[in-house]
Amino acid sequence: MTNGPKGPFHVSRAIIPETFWRAGRRQPTTMNKQNFQPVKIGVIGLGRFGRLHALTVAGLAESELVGLVARRQESLNALTFELPGVPTWTNLEQALRESEAEAWIVACTTASHVPVARAILEAGKTVLLEKPIADNLAEATSLLPLIRPDSSNLMLGHIVLFNSEFQQLRDEVQRRGSIAYIDCVRHRPASIVEKFPGENPLHAAMVHDLYATQVLVNRAEPTHFSAQYHRTGRGEVDLALAQLQWDHGPVASFAASYLTPAGMAPRGFDRMEVFGEGWSARITPNPRPIELWDTQASWPLPLEIRTDPSGPTGMMAEELRCFCRVVRGRQPVPVGATYTDAIQIQHWLDNLAACAK
Ligand SMILES: NC(=O)c1ccc[n+]([C@@H]2O[C@H](COP(=O)([O-])OP(=O)(O)OC[C@H]3O[C@@H](n4cnc5c(N)ncnc54)[C@H](OP(=O)(O)O)[C@@H]3O)[C@@H](O)[C@H]2O)c1
Repeated sequence: MTNGPKGPFHVSRAIIPETFWRAGRRQPTTMNKQNFQPVKIGVIGLGRFGRLHALTVAGLAESELVGLVARRQESLNALTFELPGVPTWTNLEQALRESEAEAWIVACTTASHVPVARAILEAGKTVLLEKPIADNLAEATSLLPLIRPDSSNLMLGHIVLFNSEFQQLRDEVQRRGSIAYIDCVRHRPASIVEKFPGENPLHAAMVHDLYATQVLVNRAEPTHFSAQYHRTGRGEVDLALAQLQWDHGPVASFAASYLTPAGMAPRGFDRMEVFGEGWSARITPNPRPIELWDTQASWPLPLEIRTDPSGPTGMMAEELRCFCRVVRGRQPVPVGATYTDAIQIQHWLDNLAACAK
């Protein structure tokens, strides 16, 4: 499938103000430690990722955890054991009325992202919304009237942008330029196919490499999309392959799968390679380079996320520090994490899914 300059993204870009495209460029942050008031943050959706967000918010100097919202009381009970004393609600509207939160992290199931984000934005609060923005483009674009032109009231939880190796790679690309080829590999355990039937590695895993690539090409729109799936005997997608190409620019290839066996690292492995003119670079951010052996080998730190109460570290801590600076107006939402960036990625996903079918 090939899209010329007037490809599918052309239409949506036309309806989105140009100011969105100027927003989020990297600028030096002018953080004044003396007058930075910790941002009062609430978290809604307390599953695996919501728990990590809540623990990280509670541990950072830049933030204060002031509310937890779940659908079920049991989800609140499970977390309040780890985070005693934080006010809790099972009703978002009530939480919005009663809590002190200036900003919210939305980490509930993807199907609830848009209605939950809409309620918070309508209440005038700032949102960090977990990826992906929605299950489909129409739902994602329905938020547009509520988003400020510079996206300063909505940042996407594009966490890989805050991984240390990726940040260095991005700087190298900016310094050296002229990319010829980007190759991204993101393999996750084969057990996911059994545990989460219907979860497509294109949407759940490859999305990270797509927004990371969007940053490396500075939001340029590809002119060629192609993709393929491999399916299990039961018809579940366990491998997504994709290729993007830019006219007079790079070619990029992506593999995202649920194929790694139980003996491998718990979150599989990730690799990103970039080739330029006279240079190339490779990052392998997952698993982190600590290996441990007893009766067998293990990788105790798959992703760069540590929620140590004495000081969270890693990419989630950096993402949430950045979010706090955005809430305080100290920096724009970074390239790759604005609402328009997320819409562009949703277009890429829709194109690739159509190609793979
Ligand atoms: N950035 C990343 O790398 C990354 C990684 C993993 C996940 N994610 C994203 O983060 C989100 C959560 O993923 P997860 O793995 O944490 O999922 P999960 O473990 O299934 O947790 C989802 C939670 O959302 C809650 N929930 C659903 N609808 C809700 C609503 N309307 N109000 C309040 N709570 C609601 C559920 O609550 P109950 O338990 O009460 O039913 C459940 O605890 C997903 O969108 C996912 O794509 C991002």
